[in-house]
Amino acid sequence: MRKPLVAGNWKMNLLVGEAIEMIEALKPLVADVDAVDIVVCPTYTALHAVSQALGNSNIALGGQDAYVKENGAYTGAISPQMLMDVGCTWTIIGHSERRQYFKEVNGFLNEKLKFALAAGLRVMFCIGETLEERKSGKMNEILTRHVTEGLRGLAEADFERVAIAYEPVWAIGTGVTATPDQAEEAHIFVRNVVKDQFGGTISEQLRIQYGGSVKPENAAELMAKPNVDGALVGGASLKADSFAAIVRGAL
Ligand code: PGA
Repeated sequence: MRKPLVAGNWKMNLLVGEAIEMIEALKPLVADVDAVDIVVCPTYTALHAVSQALGNSNIALGGQDAYVKENGAYTGAISPQMLMDVGCTWTIIGHSERRQYFKEVNGFLNEKLKFALAAGLRVMFCIGETLEERKSGKMNEILTRHVTEGLRGLAEADFERVAIAYEPVWAIGTGVTATPDQAEEAHIFVRNVVKDQFGGTISEQLRIQYGGSVKPENAAELMAKPNVDGALVGGASLKADSFAAIVRGAL
């Protein structure tokens, strides 16, 4: 059985004080949850403080991105090693907002993924089609490319530390959620692409999270689908009660 993975992607939100307040409220709400891997991904500036607030809780810390160098003259960038230095065990790579606003493409994201894994992080690797791509019948082609180009060259052992987040771009921050059937269908397709490339054992063990307007009201239904192994949550992860409700939706 794949253990559900529920992560909060705070994006460019929450100042340090707000982040600490959120964590202090969240901890008791999920303290009894063993059956779900829980991760929060604050902004870089809040990572250290959040790490301290998390203490020995059952909530792991993640970055939202990581560069492909350990250190050096790369103004504005943060390395996987730096994320680990402040307590991160996870990072997100390839979020659609990185693809859209920062022009990150599959080949570069593949480098980032491999570099983060080599450094020792676990990675949620995001994929997903835009509305235009879905409407023009290109969804499967896009997902195939995101998977084959994005995961290219990974070794079998790497997959113990990789999850895929299927996030249809049209569902992110829009309030429009994929239906459970739409999510399940895409997850099955993605799992089959992984199977073709890396074999059945890896594809069966790989966790595929759904992301895109996940809320307490729809989380349980989405994650009840056999191939939806958790959620990557944006807006609804900023508040302790809604994020906790989503975590519980995975149980
Ligand atoms: P959303 O964001 O839940 O606000 O739609 C999801 C994501 O971008 O990871």
